[in-house]
Amino acid sequence: MLNALKPQPADKILQLIQMFRDDPRPAKIDLGVGVYKDATGLTPVMHAVKAAEKQLWEVETTKAYTGLAGDPAFASALAAMILADTVPADRIAAVATPGGTGAIRQALELIRMASPGATVWLSNPTWPNHPSIIRYLGIPMREYRYFDAESGAVNFDGMMADLDAVKPGDVVLLHGCCHNPTGANLNMVEWAAVASLLNRKHAVPLVDLAYQGFGDGLEPDAAPTRLIARDCPEVLIAASCSKNFGIYRERTGMLMAIGDALLRTVTQGNLAFLNRQNYSFPPDHGARLVTMILQDVTLTAQWKTELEEVRLNMLSLRHALADALRAETGSDRFGFVGAHRGMFSRLGITAEQVERLRAEHGIYMVGDSRLNIAGLNAATVPILAKAVASVIR
Ligand code: LMR
Repeated sequence: MLNALKPQPADKILQLIQMFRDDPRPAKIDLGVGVYKDATGLTPVMHAVKAAEKQLWEVETTKAYTGLAGDPAFASALAAMILADTVPADRIAAVATPGGTGAIRQALELIRMASPGATVWLSNPTWPNHPSIIRYLGIPMREYRYFDAESGAVNFDGMMADLDAVKPGDVVLLHGCCHNPTGANLNMVEWAAVASLLNRKHAVPLVDLAYQGFGDGLEPDAAPTRLIARDCPEVLIAASCSKNFGIYRERTGMLMAIGDALLRTVTQGNLAFLNRQNYSFPPDHGARLVTMILQDVTLTAQWKTELEEVRLNMLSLRHALADALRAETGSDRFGFVGAHRGMFSRLGITAEQVERLRAEHGIYMVGDSRLNIAGLNAATVPILAKAVASVIR
């Protein structure tokens, strides 16, 4: 049997981790996978998370199974953080999932069950794992224009023109904030226009929310998702706690399916059924930490302070990089880096130039020229800017 297996293509983002590890050059710089790093290159455990872990160790009396949907307290705490009071609780079905990827996977399985043949529309470009999972599940897929490489901004007219071809029942995947890989985002007027187009087309939005708190702040980053949840009758939301709580390896995420209150019980049952088919019970440790933090005023305040530090650190690196690139290239070609938000920016240089950054300068970024801003620090910003200027010359 096993001899029938064919080698799988390596994941382009995860492949960089190994290449970077194998590189013996001491001055190498890792701007690949989307993991936050502080100025010393560490991905620290947040103090609020440590404090919750300590409390949990003291009070936890059992590791017996939770429900198939995970702990309902996690669902309500995270739903409140994402949606505030935009949607009444009796319209929200929700399950805990292994990370944001787990939530995306369950969302796509739900779409396939409920609406076989529906096309899922993806932004071009998007996180490469989106098309990979969709292809694996055999779901029809199409792309809509999103990024204008010339200006480094969203090609909104192109996006709306392409989405005009969406059919009733199709699903449109949207990045709730901090678009991955480009860093370019819609403004609220554009979000409202997207919501009304989807309603006109009777299409369903699937919001991937993996970076809430990394862009303009916890509340502003939730605003587009809230607008969509308020305006559209049915909405799927795949949320990740990996980044904003810094609990990557705990695999903590949630899928919400919002619809008519009359459909909630059946929807909730289907989400729990999907969990059972795929892995039975979702991981609990990270979800419990998130719940404890969000339910405790002191821990919430501590976590928000730490998250804000992370965000502001990335924002100042972003501005420093935009300035350094302006100085090194003598042009405003990369000015958009300062306007982008979140962990990533796509520089818009060629794959060959990205390869030269790696080969000649030991600088690692994804081949489409996406760089992880959090991989930089005050010392490496000027090194990167010089290297970019040299490869585009
Ligand atoms: C990324 O895009 O780098 C992150 O979402 C990590 C991943 O799993 O790819």
